[in-house]
Order: sequence, then C-alpha cells, then structure tokens
Amino acid sequence: MTNAANTCTVNTSTANASTVITNIGLLLTHDNEQPEIENAAIVFDGGRVAWWGSTEQAPAADDHMDAAGRCVLPGFVDSHSHLLFAGDRSEEFEARMAGRRYEAGGIRRTVALSREATDDELLANATALVAEMRRQGTTTIEIKSGYGLSVHDEARMLRLASTLTGETTFLGAHVVPAEYAEDRAAYVSLVRGEMLEACAPFSRWIDVFCDNGAFTEDETRSIIRAGQARGLGARLHGAQLGESGAVQLAVELGAASVDHCTYLSDDDVDALAASTTSVGLLPGVEFSTKHPFVDARRLLDAGVAVALASDCNPGSSFTSSLPFCIALAVREMGMTSAEAVTAATLGGARSLQRDDVGHLRVGARAHAQILDAPHYRHLAYRPGVPLVSSVFLDGVHER
Ligand code: NIG
Ligand code: FE
Repeated sequence: MTNAANTCTVNTSTANASTVITNIGLLLTHDNEQPEIENAAIVFDGGRVAWWGSTEQAPAADDHMDAAGRCVLPGFVDSHSHLLFAGDRSEEFEARMAGRRYEAGGIRRTVALSREATDDELLANATALVAEMRRQGTTTIEIKSGYGLSVHDEARMLRLASTLTGETTFLGAHVVPAEYAEDRAAYVSLVRGEMLEACAPFSRWIDVFCDNGAFTEDETRSIIRAGQARGLGARLHGAQLGESGAVQLAVELGAASVDHCTYLSDDDVDALAASTTSVGLLPGVEFSTKHPFVDARRLLDAGVAVALASDCNPGSSFTSSLPFCIALAVREMGMTSAEAVTAATLGGARSLQRDDVGHLRVGARAHAQILDAPHYRHLAYRPGVPLVSSVFLDGVHER
C-alpha cells in the first residue's frame, strides 16, 4: 500500500531539479533484479528515483554529484519511536547499569513532566530529535503518543506529531495513569471511547503496550478493535518484559507489527511465520535495560518479517541512531550486515505497510543517503562513527 503523504515533513520542499550521482562504489537498491550494483549511478527526478545503472551510461541531469566511490543506500525507515515528551530519565539508566531492573512504571514520570510542558517545548524537543535522526540517515519516522494519557494531552501530542510525520500512532494505552490506578476499567473505556475519538483525526495507527505492568490481553484486544473500527491500523508493544499472549494476539488482530519480542516461545515464532505481522526489533532497549538481545536468526530462519527500529524514548532506549541499532544487531543478534540494513530500510517500510520508501527501485521516493564508506557493512564495522555524509529527502539534498 503506497501512502505518498506519509513521510518526515520537517523540510517540505519538493525536488523540481533532477540530480545524478555518479561514481557510487556500491549502490543498494533492493531491486529484485539488481539489489546491489558496483560502480553505479542513480538519477532523482521530481522527487522520485528515475534511473539507475552504471556510471558510464548515466544520463545528464540538472545537478551532478560525484560519490567518489562511497556507498549509497535508501534512507532508513524508523518504524517505532516516542518523540513527544519532556524531561530526562538518565538517572534511571545509570541505576540500571548498576543492576536495577527496568520497570514500565517509569513511564509515569515522563507523563507528569510532559503534561506540564507547553506545545512549543514539546515540539522543539521532538523536532531536534527528528533532526538528529535525519543526520543519521533516517528519512521516514513513525512517532507514537503515550506520554499524555488524558484526552487533552494525547490529542495534543498527536496533533504535534502530525506536523512532523504522517506515521503517527495513538498509544493512549501505554500504561494506566496514576489517577486511574484504582479503576483501570474506566481508563480502558476512556481510551477506546472519548480519547480515541479525539486522537483518531491525527493518527494512522493505534498501539497498546500489552505486557506485565501495562495492559492485559483482554484490555488490549478491546482497545485495538475499537481503533480498527475507527479506521486505524494496529501495532502492538509485546513480549518486552516476559513471554505472554501478546504476540499471538497481534497475529489474531492482524496487526501490522508487534515490537520488542524480547521473550518469544516457539509457538510465537510459528504464529508469526504464518502471518503477515512483522516483528520490530529494538536493540537500543536491550542495550539500555540489560535485557537479553533477541536472537534474530531464529526469526529470520523461520521466515518472519523483521524490522529494526530505534524505539527512541527517554526511558528504555534514548537513542535516535539506526546505525547504532544496526551495529548491535550484527554484533549481538546474529544478523549479517545485509540483513540488518535491510531490516532498517525495507523491513521498516513493510512494518508501516509502505511500498514507496525503504528501497531505491525506479519510482520510489528519492529518500537516500550517502555513507562516508565504500560499503554499508561499515555501519557495523565502524560503530559510533558518524558515517552518514549526505541525506536526500524527495530528491532534495538536505546535508
Ligand atoms: O517501547 N515499552 C513501553 N514503552 C516504551 C518505554 C517507555 C518508557 O520507559 O518511557 C518502550 O520501550
Ligand atoms: Fe516503544
């Protein structure tokens, strides 16, 4: 399903001029015929990929860039982030590094601070994080609410998020807020009723944190079904804190993705493999909570569709960097560099049910990046090094 309106909109200019990039050491197109091409060239025209082939055969264009042997690949598609928040929880991170357990309850600290923040403060923080992502090659970003947890604040967060991306997700069911601690049923009714009504105009997706300390499977089912009836696509946070029925519930509900999946049973893997539901792997969470890294091989070998995403949020994973996630996936999760980069591009696009991004086939949106390296495997080989030297959004050279 193509959704041309859904992409980062921090820079809304569109490309009128055409651009040809020549002398590309390695071009990653994800095209079925020629997924990778050496000594390549690519042409962007009208914001789309218009042509690719060998440098010798490259046509002329309005602008010319010489890649000098560097690698060109699709912009990353970050299919899971929580960028609308205020405050800092670095001391929780420090405590976890010293042995403290991660608890979903920390979310309520961010809720309290975010409710107090003005629209301008929230938007400035989120815009800075989008810019940080962009500098690291991310060109399509999903953004969730979930730190408002009132009708007013959830709608406010989603209205602000919708100025940054079309991939907005209503996560009113992140945790039960403190004021409803004694009456969870009333909160679930609020989320699936008045809150959903207020948030749906700004949302493409609905998500529920279905885990210990958050929402039960029955609560999750009723909230997701209400969102689907209102026209939203389903996503789930599941199996982050332990094995549960969340993964098979995601499959039952036809969710586009179930994310985290740190703890999976064999039955979960079988159910995922037989479904259209993607798994969003979030290694920044495992890094920052000291939970075990997911064995991605087990999923890939079973034929499960896998995306790699940042989960950028102030509690469990305060990284905006997909290169960092790729390095962790290669070092700790049994993925090859090609699999990790594919999961951060095509995999993210599939998780968001997009076919216009995450690849550089002719006709794709011209969202691309140039690495200061001859091969994408350097993203894992040179961890922590800022290798993204240029980013193109709709064919426009951003930096
Ligand atoms: O995806 N798991 C639930 N939500 C976030 C964590 C949010 C927080 O700790 O503030 C996540 O990891
Ligand atoms: Fe999350």
